[in-house]
Amino acid sequence: MKVDVILGLQWGDEGKGKIVDVFTPHYDIIARFQGGPNAGHTIEFGGKKFVLHTIPSGIFHPQTLNVIGNGVIIDPFILFKEIDNLRASGMHPEANLLVSRRAHLILPSHRLLDAALETTKGASKIGSTLKGIGPCYTDKYGRNGLRVGNISDTDFNDRYNALKEEHLALVAHVGFDHSLQRFDALSFEAYEEKWFDAVNRLKELNIIDSETFLNKALDEGKSVLAEGAQGTLLDVDFGSYPYVTSSNTISAGVCAGLGISPRRIGTIYGVFKAYCTRVGSGPFPTELNDEDGTKMRVSGNEFGSTTGRPRRCGWLDLPALRYAVMMNGIDSLIMMKADVLNNFQDIKVCTYYKSGDMTVDGFPFDLSDPGLQPVYEKRSGWNCDLGNCTTLEHIPAALADYVKFIENSVGKPIDILSIGPDRTQTLKR
Ligand code: GDP
Ligand code: IMO
Ligand code: MG
Repeated sequence: MKVDVILGLQWGDEGKGKIVDVFTPHYDIIARFQGGPNAGHTIEFGGKKFVLHTIPSGIFHPQTLNVIGNGVIIDPFILFKEIDNLRASGMHPEANLLVSRRAHLILPSHRLLDAALETTKGASKIGSTLKGIGPCYTDKYGRNGLRVGNISDTDFNDRYNALKEEHLALVAHVGFDHSLQRFDALSFEAYEEKWFDAVNRLKELNIIDSETFLNKALDEGKSVLAEGAQGTLLDVDFGSYPYVTSSNTISAGVCAGLGISPRRIGTIYGVFKAYCTRVGSGPFPTELNDEDGTKMRVSGNEFGSTTGRPRRCGWLDLPALRYAVMMNGIDSLIMMKADVLNNFQDIKVCTYYKSGDMTVDGFPFDLSDPGLQPVYEKRSGWNCDLGNCTTLEHIPAALADYVKFIENSVGKPIDILSIGPDRTQTLKR
């Protein structure tokens, strides 16, 4: 068997969590391969809403195993907050959750350092979720990190303290007063204490060599779905650098993040919104700072699942989408939140970019270039509720035209259309 992949094609929050949950009944195993608790994946069903940060979105199906892969970085405190939240709803997530021994740990001082470094950046801050993502991946690649497999080592506390002291020295060096910083309303010291409690609980979870586990499962004919976090335009290599996250969010990240050969990758699904959003700083050429942008934010409830920050909204960017489809090798597209555009008389789409009078070929390297202009094409809106639609074949003509227009422009089929946050509001071909 092969590993299928679901990932985001824009700046994150495309609706990956919902789609992974919808796909889960068809898979034996769901595996996260990168990112950490900067992710916020929302799943809604039966009138309930859950937001997952570290746990894969297949957790609501007890017969499916959920793997936190080696490429993910874990804050044990946040992981157990999620677990306890699910337990409070009568679930037992520990029963079908597996954690890679090779996944790196986010230390409280990684979070502190994230806050300190963002503060020193001033106006050019990344707009990080402040979950310690950048500093933790920096230590991973700098070969200083601590991994899940180290928590039972006799020298774990010594290594923890040595790394923490390095972080604190850096924090002091940039003149950041850490006594004022709060983590989930806790002081650094109080958070650290709770973090260690969570590390002790982590020892009770099913900790495995996930690369061996997954390859063996594939050999035995089990089906695996890899769940991406963030989105292609936040990829550390191909996103709007430096306003990106610190991992490879693209399909190539699946191989390193799970220990899977490229030969074992199967169908790659790309999730995108019918428009664009971005949370945090960085260029966003099709952003709408007007009534249309506000209308999208309100009707799409565009507020961050992890930080609650208002998401910036704008029109669909086709050069960006084509770039993302190319790099990920997308087979099948999934368009989300079509319902958010129900009340737009006209819908604009960026079809290409211009720089001065020159047409830009493809997706520009420097999205911040002040001479860069998105060129729009206007499409008719459908101006109706989609509540009665049950299949992709029975949607209003103007929406069918919008779908066809995107398919023709991108060269891949839209096989699923999402028209609401609930599991059931999903139209398939
Ligand atoms: P993810 O990070 O890619 O999993 O996406 P998020 O969960 O951060 O953000 C997507 C938001 O849109 C969540 O609040 C979802 O409940 C919601 N959502 C998903 N699909 C749809 C849809 O088709 N229509 C509407 N209106 N909301 C949706
Ligand atoms: P999901 O998986 C949207 C953004 C942050 C910031 C930048 C760097 O829910 O789609 P980081 O915390 O990684 O240092 O932040 O990336 N960002 C996301 N935006 N969805 C996400 O995840 C994100 N994860 C990080 O807002 O601009
Ligand atoms: Mg999200």
